[in-house]
Amino acid sequence: MPSVADELIEAIRTIPDYPKPGILFRDITTLLGNARAFRRAVDALVQPWAGSKVEQIAGIEARGFILGGAVAHQLSAGFVPIRKKGKLPHETVRIAYSLEYGLDEMEMHKDAIRPGDRVIVVDDLIATGGTAEAACKLLRGQGAEIVAACFIVDLPDLGGRAKLEALGVPVRTLVAFP
Ligand code: PRP
Ligand code: ADE
Repeated sequence: MPSVADELIEAIRTIPDYPKPGILFRDITTLLGNARAFRRAVDALVQPWAGSKVEQIAGIEARGFILGGAVAHQLSAGFVPIRKKGKLPHETVRIAYSLEYGLDEMEMHKDAIRPGDRVIVVDDLIATGGTAEAACKLLRGQGAEIVAACFIVDLPDLGGRAKLEALGVPVRTLVAFP
């Protein structure tokens, strides 16, 4: 059987010039459609926290919802959606952020976290880290203790891991595209 990293790299499709010229888009939909690769990715993401106390998984819209739901199930944790602005129905807190190819704003419900909750942030990919950094700031603003942030893909040249580690957030990634 191939290693987890080899299998995941093989399962991820690369689309040049999407969504903007010059971006190499790492498309995980092909990994999600591959039952064995999807299961191995989720198992590998949760492995360091199996059996430990984690109250909530915070999944970042949109691809972080798919992975975060599976991770929450595996760790018997709740799930908190971090959404693009204007999508959540109740009272929210909001933060602006930048990412590899643009600017946006994200929100979470004010009552989604109880102070002291141990939270793992989940997304498919970290590039500049702007998105995950904003999510960690939102969550900490509501009293969360961020246990870690985990991603299938790291784009190490864009510095996201260092940005989160500078905030004191441990980072777990499964594969890197230099
Ligand atoms: C992608 C990806 C991460 C973010 C990473 O999401 O899923 O959330 O970019 O980039 P960064 O590390 O430079 O911040 P995108 O904003 O494209 O949203 P989507 O999942 O809704 O397509
Ligand atoms: N989010 C930010 N940069 C990305 C990339 N190169 N591929 C997929 N998602 C991304």
